[in-house]
Amino acid sequence: MKIEVSGKGGCGKSTLSVLLARSMKKLGYRVLLVDGDESNIGLEKLTGISEPMHLLDYLGGKKGFKARLNQTMMTDNPAGLFSGKQTIDDLPKECIASSDDGLEMLVIGKIHHIGEGCACPMGVLSRKFLASLETGEKEVVIVDSEAGVEHFGRGIVGECDLIIGVIDPTAESFQLAQKMTQMAENGNKEICFILNKVEPAIEEFMKNQLAAAPVIGVIPRDNSVFMESLEGKELTKTFSEIDDICRKILGSDQ
Ligand SMILES: Nc1ncnc2c1ncn2[C@@H]1O[C@H](COP(=O)(O)OP(=O)(O)O)[C@@H](O)[C@H]1O
Ligand SMILES: [Mg+2]
Repeated sequence: MKIEVSGKGGCGKSTLSVLLARSMKKLGYRVLLVDGDESNIGLEKLTGISEPMHLLDYLGGKKGFKARLNQTMMTDNPAGLFSGKQTIDDLPKECIASSDDGLEMLVIGKIHHIGEGCACPMGVLSRKFLASLETGEKEVVIVDSEAGVEHFGRGIVGECDLIIGVIDPTAESFQLAQKMTQMAENGNKEICFILNKVEPAIEEFMKNQLAAAPVIGVIPRDNSVFMESLEGKELTKTFSEIDDICRKILGSDQ
């Protein structure tokens, strides 16, 4: 199963991606956490995993990857790599790092320099990578995606089986939820939402805002989560709510 975690900047995509990944691992799944946000810094810190070589760098960086794309465009064999179907085990070993408990992580790529230009190659690479990746019965790929809905247009979402929208208590998130629902419907994709950073006083209000949407869980605002990220430490907090959400998502597989 391939899952894309979406939402506005700062809503908690990276935090929840790590918590979901760990929980699914605990439930007995092989989990590959994919950092698909070129502007994310520190997903590996949250996981406590030492950063693997970025996939884009493995392919020769932005320049090298673009050259490969151009070379192979004529033969409809984009980038040479990632054209056929492959499993997690087929991925370059340099690009996968693991935690002590066996959670695996892959980073698509980052913008290293100011003025490096647009991040399009990262979007293309994300899409091709996900399109070619096949997951087995007890395997889950969780993609921590970039903010907003631009990547919906780039087709990354089309390569996932489920979209999880993370909604924090902002009007912007409520609006985005509507847009995401519409886009998922148009693309015939399954979508569900997690309300994040929820305080008791606003829970009812948030639920009303999302009344028409499939909300599968509510995660409270938690100061230790915030502090650990502020201090650049590994996330240690666990939530029973996250385990419940994972059981719902994995459904009959349990
Ligand atoms: N449930 C929560 N309670 C408190 N703080 C949270 C919670 N979820 C996320 N945060 C904080 O919100 C900020 C943004 O989270 P992050 O996961 O980086 O968002 P995104 O990846 O969507 O940009 C971080 O400071 C993080 O610690
Ligand atoms: Mg993030």
